Amino acid sequence: MAAKKSPTMRKQVDQLTVKRAETRLGGGEARLQKQRDAGKMTARERIGALLDEATFQEIGLYRRNRTTAFGMDTADMPADGVVTGTGAVFGRPIHLASQDFTVVGGSAGETHSLKVVQMMESALKCGTPFVFINDSGGARIQEGIDSLHGYGAVFYENVKLSGAVPQISIISGPCAGGAAYSPALTDFIIQTRKAHMFITGPNVIKQVTGEDVTADALGGADTHMSISGVNHFVADDDEQAILIAQKLLSLLPQNNTEDPQVFEPDPYVERDETIYDIVPTDGNKGYDVRDVILKLVDHQDFLEVQAGYAMNLVIGFARINGRTIGVVANQPSSMAGVLDINASDKGSRFIRFCNAFNIPLLTLVDVPGFLPGVSQETGGIIRHGAKMLYAYAAATVPKVTVVMRKAYGGAYIAMCCKDLGADSVFAWPTAEIAVMGAEGAASVVFKKEIETADDPDAKRQELIDEYRNVYSTPFMAAARGLVDDVIDPADTRRYVAMALEILINKRELRPAKKHGLGPV
Ligand code: HXC
Repeated sequence: MAAKKSPTMRKQVDQLTVKRAETRLGGGEARLQKQRDAGKMTARERIGALLDEATFQEIGLYRRNRTTAFGMDTADMPADGVVTGTGAVFGRPIHLASQDFTVVGGSAGETHSLKVVQMMESALKCGTPFVFINDSGGARIQEGIDSLHGYGAVFYENVKLSGAVPQISIISGPCAGGAAYSPALTDFIIQTRKAHMFITGPNVIKQVTGEDVTADALGGADTHMSISGVNHFVADDDEQAILIAQKLLSLLPQNNTEDPQVFEPDPYVERDETIYDIVPTDGNKGYDVRDVILKLVDHQDFLEVQAGYAMNLVIGFARINGRTIGVVANQPSSMAGVLDINASDKGSRFIRFCNAFNIPLLTLVDVPGFLPGVSQETGGIIRHGAKMLYAYAAATVPKVTVVMRKAYGGAYIAMCCKDLGADSVFAWPTAEIAVMGAEGAASVVFKKEIETADDPDAKRQELIDEYRNVYSTPFMAAARGLVDDVIDPADTRRYVAMALEILINKRELRPAKKHGLGPV
């Protein structure tokens, strides 16, 4: 009898191709089309748009959950509802996971989450960023404790990766319940206007508190940008979210042992007197500090982070001399650029990120102080404001500070003055570095003199001018060595660029300890 012939390699490969294609269909063509009709990309389309062409290597396509309850053993759940793997963005490798809403609502069971964890562990081992695209109904209800175990493992891994490799969350669909804590543990959240994030949704809130609220008002992208401060970027749709993620990745190092990649420097180093027209010499007049930032950075290219939250402080990434920097700047056109609770939270987190990933900090100062008020005090401005002091003082990356106009009191210190470890501090001639503004200072210090003068108003003005001439200038700070130089604003880009170049190999050692105990 002739031996049974094995199928040819060609036949086996054909079978594999069919199996792959079927599995890659996820929840099936109808569900995929429903997703597209809702103006969303599918899980695999998102991956295709994010990665360089033909770089995606899927890992775990055939993994399945091991639950038998509630018919889960017979349910068809390709890839267990999450597409995981590796690829490249602008030629640099990343690890990623993309939840597939067409498979049981992208819900996260045990295997689903352990696939995500596998990518995160590999990202840590290989020193690559990790990108998690969220589109899920949350913990897979049928899997009970197993799905909680999976989520717990993801959170644990988020924390292990924190500060070691950049973690970016794209929120493209629902992100509900405890699931929202994974993005919250990552470095940046990019949320589309088609997505919602909340711990408890509108229905539960209605039942528990009786409040009526729409999903958009509760957890839409604009709410999380302007009110809660949960997200960092808002995108109209998946395409835009992916462009933001790509841009962000291009600015960041692959991991904390590297510096960000160096790009071709913008050759422009000429004096630029147009900066005079941006900043009024009258300290009470506002302006948009982003116009100053654009004058200082390469190719006028600035990626603002949390642009719609605590707008009195501007933060974001740019390059100078081809190298990534983090910019922190008071914004005089919003609440006069004062520091408050939200600005302190926003700024300090950003400073800590930059420090963790070797990104030098450029601080632009024009700050009247910390915001006075009962709500600020009882809201804990002491605790929140201290985060700025802690973050700057703890940061060992190069720190360059430019004082443009006002730098008063505790806010002067909190905006990376020399004593918080700034390596270079430059001031413009318009800088006023003082305990408080001359008007306030004169009315406290010279109260009696003003009251007893023949012409109190004239006396007040005279004493204000006297105080301003002595203290509200950069020259007293320069005389003390707290300002390295008073510079022509038109030369700021050159001074900052040179200072950063000198600091490229900065090394600053701190005492070994498990970790500090900054205010949180
Ligand atoms: C299992 C789920 C699911 C879940 C959705 N599905 N969420 N299956 N576990 N958590 C399934 C649905 O049954 C449905 O299956 C399919 O996914 C698509 O869901 P639809 O409801 O048809 O879609 P849509 O109308 O767009 O509504 C999406 C949704 C809604 C808003 C996300 O499905 C929803 O509210 N889901 C439950 C959300 C939730 O309460 N999750 C648990 C949170 S608690 P079929 O077969 O009909 O297509 C949590 C704890 C985590 O996450 C704790 C970790 C620390």
